[in-house]
Amino acid sequence: MLKVLVTVIVGLMITKMVQSEREVDGILGSKKTVRVENDLTNGISVFLHCKSKDDDLGEHVLQNGQYQEWRFRDNIVHTTLFWCAMRASNVQSSFDVYSYKADSALCDQCNRSLRNDGLYFYNQYENKWEKKLSWNIQSF
Ligand SMILES: *[C@@H]1O[C@H](CO)[C@@H](O)[C@H](O)[C@H]1NC(C)=O
Repeated sequence: MLKVLVTVIVGLMITKMVQSEREVDGILGSKKTVRVENDLTNGISVFLHCKSKDDDLGEHVLQNGQYQEWRFRDNIVHTTLFWCAMRASNVQSSFDVYSYKADSALCDQCNRSLRNDGLYFYNQYENKWEKKLSWNIQSF
């Protein structure tokens, strides 16, 4: 009887320790959302393939107005990095779509817009679009 009780209590303590470790993780890493939208004119499709060191989000085809969105937590050591390869009409490019160092202070909802003249990131706290990369996507 006593042995069973001790086993249960030790079991509960271990469970509790594991839980509090997760809570610490939760406190240190805030939840982020990245959304990448095709805002190109003339019905140009975007082929988008985004990854981090640990996750391959796969290749997605976005029509005008469509977007890809995903959620994650910044890791504790602040090295979170997602990047994408992109193809649209005459342009092929790759870019960091979210990095802790560059973006963690600028957004929780991190909207990105693919436009004919370049890549834009939304600065949530200053309420403005900022151009990150220039290209010239043309329709033929
Ligand atoms: C991000 O984009 C969505 C869809 O356009 C919009 O509803 C949302 O308000 C945007 N969020 C921010 C912070 O810009």
